[in-house]
Amino acid sequence: MSDIRLEGVTKRYGTFAAADQVDLSVTQGEFVTILGPSGSGKTTLLSLIAGLNRPTSGRIFIGGRDVTNATAQERNIGLVFQSYALFPHMTVLENVLFPLGVRKIGGAEADRLARDALKLVRLDGLEARRPSQLSGGQQQRVALARAVVFKPDILLLDEPLGALDRKLREELQVELKQLQRTLGVTTLLVTHDQEEALSLSDRIMVLDKGRTQQVAAPAEAYLKPANRFVAEFLGIANFVDLPDGRNGVVRPERVRFTAEGQGRPARVVEAIYLGQMVRYHLALDGNQSVVAAVPFLGTAHAPGERVSVSWESADVWPVT
Ligand SMILES: Nc1ncnc2c1ncn2[C@@H]1O[C@H](COP(=O)(O)OP(=O)(O)OP(=O)(O)O)[C@@H](O)[C@H]1O
Ligand SMILES: [Mg+2]
Repeated sequence: MSDIRLEGVTKRYGTFAAADQVDLSVTQGEFVTILGPSGSGKTTLLSLIAGLNRPTSGRIFIGGRDVTNATAQERNIGLVFQSYALFPHMTVLENVLFPLGVRKIGGAEADRLARDALKLVRLDGLEARRPSQLSGGQQQRVALARAVVFKPDILLLDEPLGALDRKLREELQVELKQLQRTLGVTTLLVTHDQEEALSLSDRIMVLDKGRTQQVAAPAEAYLKPANRFVAEFLGIANFVDLPDGRNGVVRPERVRFTAEGQGRPARVVEAIYLGQMVRYHLALDGNQSVVAAVPFLGTAHAPGERVSVSWESADVWPVT
């Protein structure tokens, strides 16, 4: 069964379409990420699903029910935004109790649910603190606990980890994935971080200028991008000519160094050490350049060095 369904959802501001004929079906328990550059319409879509905003045309279904004209309160949705938006004058526990109070759940029942939610995000023990006494990561955990405490039908997350430093973000990505799996809650995450989208999601939806570019499993979108925009947005793409005159994309991990004479001659322009990998920018003879990413095994080619590279024709995906 489809838990969230968008049918031709369009949101116009004057003549400008922030969301343009968007279709999407998210199944029960699925984790879908909306990925796209700034201004592509990600927040617009989430706010339409949350009921904070109305579409100009199209329909929105949640759990099979047409909620296009339902208020936000009538949709049982947990929301987390990039800015923590915790109530600063309330304690951690009071923040998490808040959505229960709105739903007329109080007393021992509410207390138990709130403490369970805080345990789930590993904040038990910090119930009496105020948001100003927490780190950014802890504040975002409170926001998560507050979003799931009332057992929402769906969870909408708009750049929830965007304000955190890289290491903390990676830690919270793992926790978020575990939380989502534990609860089995249907989740839509918005991000402009390709790695985050590829690593967390069952499927990703790539948006550009309010329009869907592709909806696919992460590996499929990465290796079989629907078009040039998706190819470039999801990572480094080498565009190479195909024998039939079309253009194809090879990912850097698929480019190999070969023995001299067995591949295409190239010159190392730049060798960038990335820890586990080295990324080479190579100038092929002729006018093309390619990027290769290979595991770092103790030695690397130096800029200026002559090398040979090749790739399998099966690793070239035609794009338009
Ligand atoms: N109330 C509004 N009035 C006019 N234009 C708006 C309004 N809200 C959003 N837009 C425009 O709609 C487009 C999509 O905005 P949206 O906030 O959905 O982008 P986004 O993908 O979430 O971007 P970001 O990654 O920067 O958060 C933008 O061009 C924005 O300027
Ligand atoms: Mg946004």
